[in-house]
Formats: sequence, C-alpha cells, structure tokens
Amino acid sequence: MTELKPIKEGKVREIYDNGDTLIMVATDRISCFDVILHNQVTKKGTVLTQMSKFWFDMTKDIVPNHMVSVDNNDMPEFFRQPQFMGNSMMCKKLTMLPVECIVRGYITGSGWASYKKNGTVCGITLPEGLLESAKLPEPIYTPSTKAEIGDHDENISYEQSVDYLEKRFPGKGAEYAAKLRDLSLTLYKTCADYALTKGIIIADTKFEFGLDENGEVVLGDEMLTPDSSRFWPAEGYEPGKSQPSFDKQFARDWLKANPDNDWTLPQEIVDKTIEKYLTGYKLLTGKDL
Ligand SMILES: Nc1ncnc2c1ncn2[C@@H]1O[C@H](COP(=O)(O)OP(=O)(O)O)[C@@H](O)[C@H]1O
Ligand SMILES: [Mg+2]
Repeated sequence: MTELKPIKEGKVREIYDNGDTLIMVATDRISCFDVILHNQVTKKGTVLTQMSKFWFDMTKDIVPNHMVSVDNNDMPEFFRQPQFMGNSMMCKKLTMLPVECIVRGYITGSGWASYKKNGTVCGITLPEGLLESAKLPEPIYTPSTKAEIGDHDENISYEQSVDYLEKRFPGKGAEYAAKLRDLSLTLYKTCADYALTKGIIIADTKFEFGLDENGEVVLGDEMLTPDSSRFWPAEGYEPGKSQPSFDKQFARDWLKANPDNDWTLPQEIVDKTIEKYLTGYKLLTGKDL
C-alpha cells in the first residue's frame, strides 16, 4: 500500500490529491477559539462528512456539486484503513472561484457588531430596532474575498465581487457573481427551511463554488456543517441575547470556566460534545450513524 501525504492540512480537515479528484478527510480534531484542542472527538469527522453528503444529495437539482463518492472502496487502498472510514469524501477537482459566499438569515457575530455601530451589515442597511440574534426580514448575501494564506478574508460588496471575479475571469465577472449570489440564497433558504422543521436554526453559513472542466459553476468544499455554519437549537431560541452554539458550547463553556487549562478537555465534556454532534446528525437526517 502506498503511503499518501495530504497536500493540505487544516485545523480540522486534510486534503489529498488523487489525480482528477481530491479526497477530503474530516478528522476528529476540534478547535475552539481558533486553537486545536488535545482531545479527539470520536466520530466528529464522520458526522461532518456525512452531513455534507446529506445536503449535497438533497440539493443536487438546485446546483451540481463536487461529491463523487463517500465509499472508501472507490478510493485508493490507503483510504481503506479504519481511520478514513466514513469521514472521507472523494470530490471532483474544481477551479475554485475565490469568493466566500456567505448568507445570513439571522444577525449575530461580526454582523451584529457592525449593525450596532451603524445599522448596516457588509454595506447592507437593515431595518432599525433589530435585537441580537433576530431573524432578518430576508436572508442577505454578504460575500468576502477568499484570502491567500496569511491574509485575512475581507468583506466585499456585491458590486466588488463582480469586479473581483472579472479580474480573474475576464468577461465572466457579472455572470459568475450573479450565479453565486442567487445559488447561495436559494441553497440557504431551502436548507434552512428544512432544518427548522427538524428543530435546528441555521443562522448563517458559507458556501464555496468552483468551475468544472466544462466551465460550469459547481458547489464545492463542505456544505452546511457546524464548521461552516452557525447552528442553533430552535428550542429556547430568543432574540435579545447570543444563542448557544449547537456543537461546541460545552467545550467553550468549560474552557472559559477553567482559564488555567492546557487545551485538554475532561472526558465528560468530550462525551457531551460527541453526543451533541450525533444528536444534531440524527435530528437533521433522521438517521443514526
Ligand atoms: N472541489 C474542489 N476542488 C479544488 N479545491 C477545493 C474543492 N473544494 C474545496 N476546495 C478548496 O480546498 C480548501 C479546503 O481547505 P480548508 O481546510 O477548508 O482550509 P481553508 O478554507 O482555510 O483554505 C479550500 O481552499 C477550498 O477552497
Ligand atoms: Mg475552508
């Protein structure tokens, strides 16, 4: 068996080159406050990968996506080892469009901070008197640049996203920008409406798209996972305060309450976190892992 090395190792995910395809592996690592903790959250990677698969299947008639297979028998032998089972996705290699397609249905995080200052989020004026975590009258599309390594992503207006894409794909900027916006809003609305019927609020999310070999716009990356989105429990949702994070709340609370920690969680907190991920998956998909 040939030993393979990832071409990219992120905080949580590892990416392997496989010719025309990529293999994306979601590990069991967990990061809180941008630090990778010492614990492994068993099955977390599988939950993330299977959740993306669930959404890719559900939305494939809205836009084609890059998923080829989550069956390890379709992958090189290296991926038929136990540590890759369930958490690996073979994906069509795309030419990525360098825009992070963010959709916000609720006002929170950096959006809330900006609204408090001047009533806008990413240059979009919102109605007066919104409370923290309030549902927006309509979901808004707030793209950002996908920064090169070392740079920070930067929010841009829709018009700037046209220019930004036009520079890289001459003659195509307006077409791609409009497609990304319209697809992102449709995907968010469809999936957020579905999730709400299962007791989960998808407050906001980020999509990434690319071009396939025919120049068609295809949905890539991960889709509507707790790592790319904010999921809140619908039960107990109340505007006027910040909402508990669906997946990492126990971990964050414990880390805050134990400031002298060395980024290692007690097993009891890890177990509660695992439980959260599994429950979230079950609520959304109706299936056990
Ligand atoms: N189908 C694809 N083809 C090529 N690149 C992809 C595809 N899907 C996602 N990507 C890219 O793979 C990378 C995934 O890396 P990730 O671990 O999320 O780190 P980061 O988002 O910080 O770059 C991103 O740069 C993303 O744009
Ligand atoms: Mg990423």
